[in-house]
Amino acid sequence: MTGPSKVWPHLFWIYLLVGPTGVLLQQIQLEPLDATVHRGSDVQFKATVVGLWEVMTWHVRGLLVLTILPNTNISSSPGRFSATFCSSGDTGCVDFIIHNVTQKESGPVICTVQGEQGSKTAQLNIQESGTVTIVGGNITAVQDQHMTFQCITAAWFPEPTITWATNGRLVDSSLYNTTSTEAGDAYNSTSVLQFQALSDTVVECLATVQTLTEPRSSLIHLVVVPKPPDWTVLKAVVVSFGGIALLVLLIAGITFCYKRRKEKKPNYQQEMSRRVKTQGQVNTVYVSDNHKSAALGALNSSGFCQAKGTSVVEMPHVKNDQAEGCSNRSSPSVDLSGFRKHRHATIV
Ligand SMILES: *[C@@H]1O[C@H](CO)[C@@H](O)[C@H](O)[C@H]1NC(C)=O
Ligand SMILES: *[C@@H]1O[C@H](CO)[C@@H](O)[C@H](O)[C@H]1NC(C)=O
Ligand SMILES: *[C@@H]1O[C@H](CO)[C@@H](O)[C@H](O)[C@H]1NC(C)=O
Ligand SMILES: *[C@@H]1O[C@H](CO)[C@@H](O)[C@H](O)[C@H]1NC(C)=O
Ligand SMILES: *[C@@H]1O[C@H](CO)[C@@H](O)[C@H](O)[C@H]1NC(C)=O
Repeated sequence: MTGPSKVWPHLFWIYLLVGPTGVLLQQIQLEPLDATVHRGSDVQFKATVVGLWEVMTWHVRGLLVLTILPNTNISSSPGRFSATFCSSGDTGCVDFIIHNVTQKESGPVICTVQGEQGSKTAQLNIQESGTVTIVGGNITAVQDQHMTFQCITAAWFPEPTITWATNGRLVDSSLYNTTSTEAGDAYNSTSVLQFQALSDTVVECLATVQTLTEPRSSLIHLVVVPKPPDWTVLKAVVVSFGGIALLVLLIAGITFCYKRRKEKKPNYQQEMSRRVKTQGQVNTVYVSDNHKSAALGALNSSGFCQAKGTSVVEMPHVKNDQAEGCSNRSSPSVDLSGFRKHRHATIV
């Protein structure tokens, strides 16, 4: 029921609308005409109507979602779409609210006032934030290692702005690349960051869209361990020096042997001639250690006899072809001819 107290303001509005010339003035205002909000938030449009109206309708993305009559108490409208009079009793101003917006509501929002006032259209854009993940998680690297980090964002709308931070400081954009692909109503993006591992670093990938107050992020710890000593150089040095040392040793050895052989020959002959000269008087000769070992080495194989535990070598009796010095052994006795025979053998 409309009492007289409500009729008079309406008449006043009618007077303003039509004016003295009787031409209809601008009737309906919508604010804002372009709204960008984050998914899950509430968005509000304010419709200001000049003059009396009978029915107000709201269409969201082509669907009629709310019908308002000026006489109804709309402040308690249930559901995701609601409206209230800006101030009670003033039907000239209506706040239309969409609660918990989703991508389904993005598009035109149309307020229509039945009658001659017409309609007004606003645009609603919904932004969406999805997931952010640095692939691989915590990682350990060797100092100076070339690192590549991959950050994947999924289900964002529109394409998010991706930045990187190391130890809380933003990374220069020349160190990373980002590519985005459309995934249905949203976008998936991949950002690749590259740098050299120098010390322990907290690596963070941040993704944001305009309507987010705080960027979404993913964080990992890069642990840098010291580089193991480069053994290859040391190895090369050791190997080459070892090789040289070995070569020197070999040459020295060969030279030594050669010299010894050269020395041995005349000595041996001298010794033998000496022995032969002294043969008549002395049957037993003391052989110097040097010559003994050489002689023994050669003679043992041909059955030479050695007195146990002494450095005295019993020389065979030269005068008798059948030596008796080796009677304590069963090995055949050796005469001087044996010596000679051996000498020939060693020369060859
Ligand atoms: C209108 O809504 C207000 C608050 O929501 C309530 O106090 C009032 O009783 C309602 N009036 C009618 C007529 O439903
Ligand atoms: C918003 O809507 C989503 C589904 O679209 C629902 O899961 C969520 O619980 C709603 N949030 C609130 C606060 O109503
Ligand atoms: C990564 O490393 C940090 C610090 O060492 C640790 O607090 C965190 O739990 C680790 N995260 C995972 C997923 O292992
Ligand atoms: C980014 O992409 C450009 C061209 O593909 C390439 O030259 C550059 O090296 C890339 N930078 C990084 C950090 O991957
Ligand atoms: C986008 O990412 C989601 C989650 O990782 C995945 O399931 C989907 O296949 C991706 N879509 C495209 C087009 O890459």
